[in-house]
Amino acid sequence: MSPDRPSDPAPLWLFAYGSLVFRPDIPFVERVPALLDGYARRFWQGSTDHRGVPGAPGRVVTLIRVAGARCAGVAYRVGDEHRERVLHDLDVREQGGYARTFERLTDPSGRTITDEALVYVATEENPNWLGDAPLESIAAQIRGAIGPSGPNPEYVLELAKALRAMEVDDDHVFALAALLHP
Ligand code: BEZ
Repeated sequence: MSPDRPSDPAPLWLFAYGSLVFRPDIPFVERVPALLDGYARRFWQGSTDHRGVPGAPGRVVTLIRVAGARCAGVAYRVGDEHRERVLHDLDVREQGGYARTFERLTDPSGRTITDEALVYVATEENPNWLGDAPLESIAAQIRGAIGPSGPNPEYVLELAKALRAMEVDDDHVFALAALLHP
């Protein structure tokens, strides 16, 4: 959909599929399970500012387009009074390579939550992009990475735990968590 902001009067819905799933440190007025069609979650984005450092990047999630795929996460509705602050804070926080896009979200029963949820996606063109690698290599990189937000394995294990609690299936995340489990 549009790469720009949707019409301002609409409520701001944010799709969380990474750290905001297990650490919702934004002001929200509603939090609901959400599905995003056509995307899959992958640990393909390098992190030099949160879960790694320059020269020793960690890996965090992004979304890749996969026909027929569906990414399960959380939709947060942000109160109008917090809208500008949240948008600004997220843009700063995700400046390591994520771009805004707006997408339709549904709930698990198929009902549309919004046609214009804000979704941050790291694209292949960004300087921290790492892309695909054998899962064991991804796990090895994550095992050795630590950044200002904490150890990289913690991110994977916390995300896996939160998805399990939501009864969400995600082979990529769970396989990685199994390799990293202490
Ligand atoms: C999240 O869901 O935590 C998230 C992931 C990528 C960019 C912004 C937020």
